[in-house]
Amino acid sequence: MKIYLASGNQHKLSELRIALQQAGLDGCEVFSADLIGGMPEVDETGDSFEANAILKAEALRPQGSEEAFYLSDDSGIEIDHLNGQPGIRSARYAGDTCNDKANNEKVLSEMTEVPDGQRGCRFRCVLALVGEGLTKTFSGSCEGTLLREYRGSGGFGYDPLFLPKESDSTFAEISSEEKAKISHRARALGKLMEYLRERLSLN
Ligand code: IMP
Repeated sequence: MKIYLASGNQHKLSELRIALQQAGLDGCEVFSADLIGGMPEVDETGDSFEANAILKAEALRPQGSEEAFYLSDDSGIEIDHLNGQPGIRSARYAGDTCNDKANNEKVLSEMTEVPDGQRGCRFRCVLALVGEGLTKTFSGSCEGTLLREYRGSGGFGYDPLFLPKESDSTFAEISSEEKAKISHRARALGKLMEYLRERLSLN
């Protein structure tokens, strides 16, 4: 089974390869979108992580072969007090040309007056796998609390503000190995691995 990753992110590609290796799924080979012309620009017009993940995977599909499969992910942070925002707009919450710092500052300022105990939030990740006769999504989440100030220098995005329930350290303070055990993306990947294992055993 041949899977192309609908993303330009090499980090996601290696995460996926490691997950396949750990799951012992030798029958699955993962390739970069670069091998089939690169990831095209996609307008993320969907109203859910699922819809946007499918849009990204479908956007790459015409560039590859019919027998192959195409995998993408869409993710973000949902803050309870902000009615689930930034959600699908996590990457561009402070504006279309914004960066992680601007997004974090916007969230922090909107949450200044919110007391401890009402700062619940979660990261969500949805993976979409598409191919001939197949459209399937796999989701994972990680519950936590939005802090009042930055802690840690690792990771990316909202990591320094996110304290997962399972730890006393933020996602920016824990190692990538630890994050890979509890993160939203790791949980979605786990469900994908289960699906691939079943599918490969049937063939
Ligand atoms: P996407 O790449 O279009 O799915 O955008 C995901 C956005 O959600 C990123 O730009 C980050 O702002 C945020 N995000 C998703 N996953 C994580 C994570 O593991 N840590 C920190 N921020 C994340």
